[in-house]
Amino acid sequence: MLSVWIVLVSCMDFLLFTSAEEGLEFPSFDGRDRVLNVNERNYKKALKKYDMMCLLYHEPLSSDKELQQQFHMRKMVLELAAQVLEDKDIGFGMVDSHKYAKVAKKLGLEEEGSIYVFKDERVIEFDGELSADTLVEFVLDLLEDPVELISNPMEQRAFERMDEDVRLIGYFKCEESEHYKAFQVTAEKFQPYVKFFATFDKGVAKQLTLKMNEIDFYEPFMDEPVTIPGKPYSVEEIVDFVNQHRRPTLRKLRAEDMFETWEDDMDGIHIVAFAEEEDPDGYEFLQILKDIARDNTKNPDLSIMWIDPDEFPLLTTYWEKTFKVDLSRPQIGVVNVTDADSVWLNMLNAEALPSAEELEDWIEDVLSGKVNTEDDDDDYDDDENEDDSSDEDHYSDDD
Ligand SMILES: *[C@@H]1O[C@H](CO)[C@@H](O)[C@H](O)[C@H]1NC(C)=O
Repeated sequence: MLSVWIVLVSCMDFLLFTSAEEGLEFPSFDGRDRVLNVNERNYKKALKKYDMMCLLYHEPLSSDKELQQQFHMRKMVLELAAQVLEDKDIGFGMVDSHKYAKVAKKLGLEEEGSIYVFKDERVIEFDGELSADTLVEFVLDLLEDPVELISNPMEQRAFERMDEDVRLIGYFKCEESEHYKAFQVTAEKFQPYVKFFATFDKGVAKQLTLKMNEIDFYEPFMDEPVTIPGKPYSVEEIVDFVNQHRRPTLRKLRAEDMFETWEDDMDGIHIVAFAEEEDPDGYEFLQILKDIARDNTKNPDLSIMWIDPDEFPLLTTYWEKTFKVDLSRPQIGVVNVTDADSVWLNMLNAEALPSAEELEDWIEDVLSGKVNTEDDDDDYDDDENEDDSSDEDHYSDDD
């Protein structure tokens, strides 16, 4: 699955749209090789030299022309990122999984095709879309402080609006506080995937109903946070809580960790909802999904993946073909992650979106296995839509 998803065209965008006028000039590769071919002799020195080192762990170079070109494009993504970030003291390199298996083992590289970022004593895996934009953004996020401070009402409102992210906020006495330090250590372990915020301000804490040394956990799209029980906390306690609550009831697919999210399936399946937030129908559908997520937030078996097709233009036709759905309209379905077989909720009338109740019934049927990708004879929708004369096959065929 992974190889199909790898999208490499962004670096080509850079090459093609070199603008003529001043003030808006995309960088183009200047031809200077900055990406290091990592081997036994140079890896220690390279890791020491830079504040941060990004290593692409890759399969050996193939003799196949097409694969060679793909390899070249991936290298160009790194080259461009290295060039753009040249002043930041960040090194880029590539590790051949066969030739330098020993180095890979020493560095703990496991998944071919992944990028591993070495920062201080930590190794952070980048399992997102391999484009220069996404990679640069990821790396820059890692340069920020792991905990962001909220010190006034304006920042507090901004914090409250970030409803797509898994985030935590704690109230502490000051920077020297032992409890704040434990929070900071924890934040580093989840950076940049889970956002950590803190306040030392009494007023902000009061608005967020935080007591001294208390930490609240915000699940995406929920109105209310959950207070982590048992304060003050040790690092292990916060880590455990985050790990246990990390998979939200409704989560948005993001370019920066899309493969990781996709691999975090629910017993081999995902419930996937496509909805364009900018589109009126998509927006409405999303509101229904959020209501359902809020009603079912205690259900550990339920996690719906929301994909906004607007954010993945290069994947949209692939998804339409693979899942046999029309993504100009909202859709919800079950996808088997082993073979990409899928079943989609029959929304016959383009104008009428399902009600929250209908959608909840359908989700229940998915969770109970009544709706599944395996029995294509399932007549789930037929009993409700006897008059359906459409000849369209609403379930996917076996390929
Ligand atoms: C997904 O598909 C595979 C291969 O067809 C099948 O073996 C597996 O049982 C399916 N999983 C679920 C949860 O339907």
